[in-house]
Amino acid sequence: MSHAPIIAPSILSADFARLDEEIKRIPSADWIHVDVMDGHFVPNLTIGAPVAKAIAKVTDKPLDCHLMIEDPGRWVSDYVDAGAHSVTFHAEATNDPVGIARRLRERGCGAGLTIKPGTLADGYLEMVSEFDLILIMSVEPGFGGQSFMPDMLDKVRAFRAEIDRLRLETRLEIDGGISPETIGSAAEAGCDTYVAGSAVYGAADPDAAIELLRERATVA
Ligand code: DX5
Ligand code: ZN
Repeated sequence: MSHAPIIAPSILSADFARLDEEIKRIPSADWIHVDVMDGHFVPNLTIGAPVAKAIAKVTDKPLDCHLMIEDPGRWVSDYVDAGAHSVTFHAEATNDPVGIARRLRERGCGAGLTIKPGTLADGYLEMVSEFDLILIMSVEPGFGGQSFMPDMLDKVRAFRAEIDRLRLETRLEIDGGISPETIGSAAEAGCDTYVAGSAVYGAADPDAAIELLRERATVA
C-alpha cells in the first residue's frame, strides 16, 4: 500500500549563494528537503528558520524540513512559522517525540520522526500513527555525499509493515546516499519518499536526475 514516489532533492548539495536559482533548476521536484544542522547534534552547521522562510517565499513546493538539532521542541514552531510543510526531528534529540508531533499537527504542519543509523526501530514503531512521516537515515547525519547503508532497509521493512497494518497514510522516507543505483532497493523495502542531494545537484542536468530517480523508484 505505497504511495506514488515523492522525490525531495536536498538543497544541502546546492549552491547556498544562489538558492533561488538552484530551486528553479528542479521543476520536477515534489518537495524541497531543507537540512538544518546546529553544529551540536551533528558536527556541521547549515541554515536555520530565517533561510527556510526565505526559501518558502521563492517556491510553491512543499518544504520538507529535516532538523538535525538538539532540543527540537524549542525550535519546531519557528519552522512552522517559516512555512514548512513538514518538520522532521530526531528521536535521539528528545524525550517527548509524541508531544512535539502533536504540537506540529495542531498547527497544521506535517510531523516527521527520524532515526540515525545506530537507532533501532523498536520503541518507535508503536508511535507511528502520531506522525505524517517517518524518515530512516541511511547515512550518519551531518554531510551529503556519503555512501548508502543497505542494512538500514530492515528498519524500512519494519516501519512499512506497521504503517500498512494500521492502514496509515504515513509516508516512509529515506535520506542518505540515494542514487539511481540505490533507490530501487529502498523502494522494494517499502519507502515511498526519497531525499537526494548529490545525486541531483551533482548531475549535469538536475531535473533529469530527478526523473531518473522517480523511474527507478517506481516498483513494478
Ligand atoms: C545528511 C542530510 C541529507 C543529505 C543527503 O545529513 O540529512 O539530506 O543532504 O545527501 P546525499 O543525497 O548526497 O547523501
Ligand atoms: Zn536530510
